[in-house]
Amino acid sequence: MSGTPPSEWHGGLPLPPNFRKLSFAERRTLLLELASGAGVEEAQFDDDLLGLGRSDVADSLVESAIGYLPVPFGVASGFIIDGHPVSVPMAVEEPSVIAAATYAARLVAGEGGFTTWATPPEMVAHVYLEGARPDGASAVLAGRTEIEHCLEPLLESMRARGGGLRAIGADSIAELALLRVSVTIDVQDAMGANLLNTAAESIAPLLEKLTGGTAIMKILTNEASGRRAGASLAIPVERLRRGALSGDESARRIVLASDIARFDSSRAVTHNKGVMNGISALALATGNDTRGIEAAVHRYASRDGVYRGVTRYEVSGGVLRGRIEIPLPMATTGGSVGFQAATAFALELLGHPDGPTLSRIAAAVGLGQNFAALFALVTDGIQKGHMRLHAARLALQAGAAGDEIREVGRRIAEGGRFTRDEAVRILSQLHERQGAGE
Ligand code: MEV
Repeated sequence: MSGTPPSEWHGGLPLPPNFRKLSFAERRTLLLELASGAGVEEAQFDDDLLGLGRSDVADSLVESAIGYLPVPFGVASGFIIDGHPVSVPMAVEEPSVIAAATYAARLVAGEGGFTTWATPPEMVAHVYLEGARPDGASAVLAGRTEIEHCLEPLLESMRARGGGLRAIGADSIAELALLRVSVTIDVQDAMGANLLNTAAESIAPLLEKLTGGTAIMKILTNEASGRRAGASLAIPVERLRRGALSGDESARRIVLASDIARFDSSRAVTHNKGVMNGISALALATGNDTRGIEAAVHRYASRDGVYRGVTRYEVSGGVLRGRIEIPLPMATTGGSVGFQAATAFALELLGHPDGPTLSRIAAAVGLGQNFAALFALVTDGIQKGHMRLHAARLALQAGAAGDEIREVGRRIAEGGRFTRDEAVRILSQLHERQGAGE
């Protein structure tokens, strides 16, 4: 595992501590100033951050494009990761996700922040061969130099960037009488899907010649089990006092909640969904492949045959310690990463991390997101916070606009009746009072 982030990464663009309290317009003005400093044009920034997007970009990204689906794009500010301040861009439709990440970021930052690590970014592709000779596996290993030679033109530029071929393996799937050849490539800052798939396809004819088999499928595995990132946090238990609950009791319950997710798969699914709330939101904001990352994490969660939670907590010496380590195949170049102005700005906001550093940031965000969820679940319950955020949506649906949305939302939350009718009632009351010059 690499111990510290690359020295050239100094964390993200600095945002003021009160960022989440600014109005929508103020937040955008501030970000636009930062973005124009980074060479992003206002019109482009507006188009992409307001979800309008450029039709030629959409058209080049997918077939049969007709437009964009706007997803709220926000920032969880206040993270400290390996000593660096980080503002985390997140694209997500669920109201509580950014709020919870920001809450965790601040609480952990007060204790020195998250510590993270990552393995080298290695991905694996497989070629499945049918009808290979019994000595097929050893023939593949004996043919390593020929295979390397065949891959050389494809991997030349990756090798120049510090990546390239790392391993060639062969094993049999006895039940299906198949030979599986594995090629491991260090993909540096890319996700690597195109490179891995091309590599698998380009060596298939040679593998057929070496083994006498027929290559029936050539594809990377999204398992990414060798491309892991991890994060840890430590919070003195006295910081976890909540209402009548002592910090000791909150911490004990958080540990118990993580143990429940170890032994009860039914709970582990929801536990891990909470982890992925943060990671997928960051992945989407940076243009990464959310499905690939999710597939890798859920596979890893069930690596010993039982689906388990991917975070662990313990208390020692009056300190709650949390930890996560999962596959995180996150890229900072290639594919759709940085292709639209919004995703390019997301990387700018993060201070242009390399791929492994982005994975480490994602690990910290996933752990923070999970910590915030567990802390709420074992103390006040999550509905209090969720319903407060839901109230703003009701206000909007009732026809509130601008500053009215926050005000109507606040009054709904105060009254505790979370219905659209109640939102309509409060809004018309507000309008009547405004009409009466209140
Ligand atoms: C909601 O999106 C996520 C949570 O359900 C996660 C969890 O239960 O740990 C709050």
